[in-house]
Amino acid sequence: MLDQIQAVKTRALAELAAIVDLDELETWRIQHLGKKGTITQLLRGLGQLSPADRPRVGQAANEAKQALEAALAARREALEAARLAQALAAERIDVSLPGRSPRLGTRHLISRTVREICDVFVAMGFNVVEGPEVEWDHYNFEMLNIPPDHPARDMWDTMYIGEVGAPMLLRTHTSPVQARYMETHQPPIRIVVPGKCYRYEDVDATHEMMFYQIEGLAVDTDITLADLKGVLDRFARALFGPDRKTLFRCDYFPFVEPGVEMAIDCHMCHGAGCKLCKGTGWLEIMGAGVVHPKVLEGVGYDPAKYSGFAFGMGP
Ligand code: PHE
Repeated sequence: MLDQIQAVKTRALAELAAIVDLDELETWRIQHLGKKGTITQLLRGLGQLSPADRPRVGQAANEAKQALEAALAARREALEAARLAQALAAERIDVSLPGRSPRLGTRHLISRTVREICDVFVAMGFNVVEGPEVEWDHYNFEMLNIPPDHPARDMWDTMYIGEVGAPMLLRTHTSPVQARYMETHQPPIRIVVPGKCYRYEDVDATHEMMFYQIEGLAVDTDITLADLKGVLDRFARALFGPDRKTLFRCDYFPFVEPGVEMAIDCHMCHGAGCKLCKGTGWLEIMGAGVVHPKVLEGVGYDPAKYSGFAFGMGP
């Protein structure tokens, strides 16, 4: 029996030495130290021994059991340490590697153009202000001398979005900000208003339901159409080059009198006429005019004292 114990112990230790992972280790534990394991079996067999042999053999069996348990613990610790070392090596981060810099985008062409245009006016003393895109009919039309049912409303394909006590819409132009600003400020006024506008459009390469406008407004004593022409002429040359020619023609907008449209000579054909300018040699770039006395009255300004000019363009 003593030999048997020795043999089991030797074999078990030899097997243990060959084990390289924790799953195999568990199998080994069950095989030798588990309830039906080899050592346990030997210990059970002790009952059949004579009382004289029992203590010696029992001691040897217990010693073998303890030896295997100790060896198991040592092996487990070694395997766990190896596993940890491996994990650490695999997950190692080289903190000295240079970072990956995020790819920077660029500003959208429209945003760039809006900024460029505003900068030209800021250099002439204008401030940049903004207003709401969801607007009352009151500011989009009525304060601009366009009462309900006025035929001029057909100039804008308006997207009404309901009634909240009063009709509400998506602003069809940036002009409502003229009235909003004058209501809350006193002359002298020089502002430009960039922003989104909305119209119910047949969408094609040059028309969208959402588009941008830049509004301009100057109000002071003694402002005339000559000031409007001077400022817009200056603007055209700053933005399109010093050789730019401008053309002002009569146009109609209910909130200006007189009203004009401004055109620049076509940059494709230089006035000869081409597809871009539809053979005219000129490109219309904005509507403008002298602020209508009714608009000034509407915001509480005295039209005998103050006058102004306004313009609106699509960038
Ligand atoms: N709001 C006009 C439009 O969108 C443009 C405009 C602005 C005309 C200011 C005159 C004065 O058609």
